[in-house]
Amino acid sequence: MLGTSEPNSVRIPNDKVSTLVDPQAYADGKILDTYKWLRKHNPLGLAVAEGFDHFWVVTRAVDIRYISLKNDLFHSGDTQFSFMDKGSDERIREITGGSPHLVHSLVSMDPPDHVKYRFIAQSYFMPQSVRKLEDRVREIAREFADKMLSTGGECDFLTEVALNYPLRVIMSIFGVPVEDEPIMLKLTQELFGAQDPEVSGAGKVLSAEEQAEYLSKTVEGFHAYFRNLSKDRRANPRDDLSSVIANAKVDGKPIPEHAEMGYYITVATAGHDTTSTSTAIAMSQLAGNPDQFQKVKADPSLIPQLVDEAIRWATPIKSFMRSAVEDVEVAGRHLSKGDWIMLCYGSGNRDEAVYDDPDAFRVDRTPNPHVSFGSGPHICLGMHLAKLEMRVLFEELLPRLKSVELNGTPRMIPSLFITGPKAIPIKFVAE
Ligand code: HEM
Repeated sequence: MLGTSEPNSVRIPNDKVSTLVDPQAYADGKILDTYKWLRKHNPLGLAVAEGFDHFWVVTRAVDIRYISLKNDLFHSGDTQFSFMDKGSDERIREITGGSPHLVHSLVSMDPPDHVKYRFIAQSYFMPQSVRKLEDRVREIAREFADKMLSTGGECDFLTEVALNYPLRVIMSIFGVPVEDEPIMLKLTQELFGAQDPEVSGAGKVLSAEEQAEYLSKTVEGFHAYFRNLSKDRRANPRDDLSSVIANAKVDGKPIPEHAEMGYYITVATAGHDTTSTSTAIAMSQLAGNPDQFQKVKADPSLIPQLVDEAIRWATPIKSFMRSAVEDVEVAGRHLSKGDWIMLCYGSGNRDEAVYDDPDAFRVDRTPNPHVSFGSGPHICLGMHLAKLEMRVLFEELLPRLKSVELNGTPRMIPSLFITGPKAIPIKFVAE
């Protein structure tokens, strides 16, 4: 393992490392200054932080893409794929009997399994399949636009629309009934919010070991739900994604239960939380930038660009991790076999080498080659669905709004992995 023997120029200064390991820095945006500094002074630097394994921090878009593309050299599954401290990692390995993963999922698979498992649901999420869902998605979007408009001019956009609209879409694709959506929402919030006392309900920040226990219970909750769903879809297959997963085969054999559960959990959770955050940030940016609101309202053909800009700006997933399969040179650095690597999507999305005025929110930004969906073989399976959902919602909503403004300051959930807002208070005038 690399680390303390590295020359100073390779090591990231301690004050920057403290930001990288502070969940609050991702919530209040302080991390963006650290990213900027790193892109300029040490774009692929080594972080050494107490309580964490050493990790390389990749902050330029070009290096993020390169490492993501080379999944033979950089694995997703040999170590934790999300950033966490040693204590949580150790507890998870105790719980699982040695594996770093509580959930066996696509994001933690490597060749040759990854491609085979991705194939199971891939056709469901290709652009041509997603286009067929547009009418159903538009119906759901109208329902939520009506709901928001019925508040009369003041609401929390997050709870009225952004939180439940993507949830309803993905659950309807899954075939999960509407009355079970609150269970899915609660479990997802627990899965991604263990570092937030308000989400865990513990009244304090949980210790690493407590977080691992908490996550393990949450995963059990998902298993309990999906086991029943799977049993039902094996006995009575329907035209839904649950039936595809329940009856999937790899190499001609039914997939093992832990892989099946992992599939359900990944699609169920990845399918709404990130889209909720991007939708919520789109609205909060429009509310905070009246000129941008007027621009896209006057020219609805800009809505797809608004969608990409919101996904870039929000970057709901802060990073995914990789590990080096062998000793390797990247961007002038020597990484050793087993080294842990943080791909900072939030930094790639503000990279001055890619974007003109990267901190500005522009509804007409083009091109917008953001890395919010990752890149390479693991690139987000649901990206076309996420974009469709957001486009359709704003197509339904914008013609019905004369103006919108913030009615308070949005607060974000502190987390090292996935952050999202706790509320988006807005005031609006309907057309
Ligand atoms: C993977 C982001 C929406 C399902 C990923 C990855 C990212 C990401 C960063 C990992 C890429 C990598 O490791 O290189 C997002 C964002 C979304 C979004 C920002 C919304 C704006 C969705 C939706 C679905 C979904 C709607 C579901 C249906 C998945 C799955 C994977 C994935 C299954 C694993 C793919 C693999 O490892 O092969 N997503 N996602 N995501 N996403 Fe999304």
